[in-house]
Amino acid sequence: MCGIIGYVGPGPAAPAIVGGLQRLDYRGYDSAGIVVLDRGRFRVEKMPGKLENLLARLKASPLAGTVGLGHTRWATHGGPTQRNAHPHVSGNARVAVVHNGIIENHEALRRRLRARGYAFRSETDTEVIAHLIEDMHRGNPLETVRRAIAKLEGSFAIGVLFRDRPDVLIGARLNSPLLVGFGEGANFLASDAPAVLPLTRRVAYLEDRELAELTPGGVRIVAADGTPREPRITHITWDYASAAREGYPHFMLKEIHEQPRALRDTIRGRTDHSIPHFPELEIEPAKLKRIRRVVITACGTAAHAGLVAKYAFEELARVPTEVVLASEFRYGDPVIGRDTLAVAVTQSGETMDTLCAIREARARGALTLAVCNVVGSSIPRAVDGTLYTHAGPEIGVASTKAYTTQIAVLELLAVRLGMLRGALTREAARPLLRALERVPDAVEKALRCEAGVRTIARRYRGARNFMYIGRRYNFPNAYEGALKLKELSYIHAEGYGAGEMKHGPLALVDNTFPTVAIATAGRVYEKMLSNMKEIEARGGILISIANPGDARVRELSRHVIEVPETPELVSPMVTAVPLQLLAYHIAVALRRDVDKPRNLAKAVTVE
Ligand code: M6R
Repeated sequence: MCGIIGYVGPGPAAPAIVGGLQRLDYRGYDSAGIVVLDRGRFRVEKMPGKLENLLARLKASPLAGTVGLGHTRWATHGGPTQRNAHPHVSGNARVAVVHNGIIENHEALRRRLRARGYAFRSETDTEVIAHLIEDMHRGNPLETVRRAIAKLEGSFAIGVLFRDRPDVLIGARLNSPLLVGFGEGANFLASDAPAVLPLTRRVAYLEDRELAELTPGGVRIVAADGTPREPRITHITWDYASAAREGYPHFMLKEIHEQPRALRDTIRGRTDHSIPHFPELEIEPAKLKRIRRVVITACGTAAHAGLVAKYAFEELARVPTEVVLASEFRYGDPVIGRDTLAVAVTQSGETMDTLCAIREARARGALTLAVCNVVGSSIPRAVDGTLYTHAGPEIGVASTKAYTTQIAVLELLAVRLGMLRGALTREAARPLLRALERVPDAVEKALRCEAGVRTIARRYRGARNFMYIGRRYNFPNAYEGALKLKELSYIHAEGYGAGEMKHGPLALVDNTFPTVAIATAGRVYEKMLSNMKEIEARGGILISIANPGDARVRELSRHVIEVPETPELVSPMVTAVPLQLLAYHIAVALRRDVDKPRNLAKAVTVE
């Protein structure tokens, strides 16, 4: 997820672009850059790190020019370096491009462009777009971009400048957001509304495969086949602060609702031809094939994703798997050898406990891999290979979309390992991959439970304690549901394997005690029902998460939250949604600081 802003008009472009970048940096802050066209030449400034670095640079050398583009980057392909920062300029400096998204066929395009004489200066997928457009340019910018984007696969929102047309700015999108802002004698391109709000309140959101040609005097929108489209102009009435959250009252709620998109971005391109496909992974398959044991190390929510993965690694890859809290790892004298794959799971890539644990594993000879959301962060730099979750920046302290995307990546890895180790045939892998591909749709449907969850949240906001129970793949979600409630609402909550209740915690149950039970379809469904009966028989309040129309669960439960039925393997990504929403709405009902709970920080960089 990156931010794009573009300006074409009578005045200087740079101030409008800088203002836009300042309002876009929540979309990523790995690097920032700007390009303007000044007297027939592109002038580019870009800096790694926060926007302040670019602003300092611009202060030292201000930019003139009345057309330009700006970009704030959240790195996906290529680390967060100056070289990889956008904008990217084509080989003969005729085209400049900024991009948000992922070009899945960038390797094939790169090979073709190299053969046509283009040299690549960055590791990004974006640079291929700049060279491709230049290579195809025959004088008409809109037509050139229209033909060029037909060759791109994946997701993109792009802004393009042409050296030979100083009055034109082109935008195009597929699966990544882009809008046009209509000003007085000037027009704008942006990833979303906050970037242009002080400049105009009249915007048109582009549809997939639409293109826009902006000049100071007007905007032309066309479809993929070149047919003109009427701009659908929206008048923005909300203010900048809520726009950054895209209208959501909190980042956490926005991030919960982003999960279908985040999962699509994470899974797309990795399920080619019935084999999980990790083009970016630097570890050769032969090395993965040799491993005899997996140790997953992580903290908090990421450790819960690891616990889900343990079931998948053992079931699908038949490889013994252990999950060790990173804060305990170093002090437990772990038995690690050259046949061990150590996996660090982390959203931020900066968690000190996890960093120390994975360094320790590497020092003891393990093959090390990170599952991480932030490109170029410390943990990916400390391991042999990294698989990125493409969740986009997670701002709310409570982890939501990072969790479900971590599970997706780890389960893809489990299928891959299973195939490499001969535990899974291609035929057996196919339905598993299909289930993973379908999970974003199931999560989208699960989000429809929100109104019902809000009612339950208001009713139980006064409870002093909560219990969460689940079994097998959904057992870690019992921990996760309890953690979400604790950190957001400050209500005491515990997660338990449902089968453990009778070994002690059942003593807590009375008619004031709410238990959230995850009772969706799967191998342990009947067992789960028995455990729920034990609670119901003692007057306990069951709030159950079940599949639609499940009369047996309904009979036992005070409240039922329905989520779509999926194969058990992928169900934790779906049942996580009501758990996140329940914690969120209880916290809102209690007027807690949802995005910044007391005593916590987003990245815990101390041991
Ligand atoms: O950035 P990481 O994934 O390494 O962070 C690990 C934990 O600190 C994190 O998941 C924490 O538990 C969250 N606040 C939970 O919502």
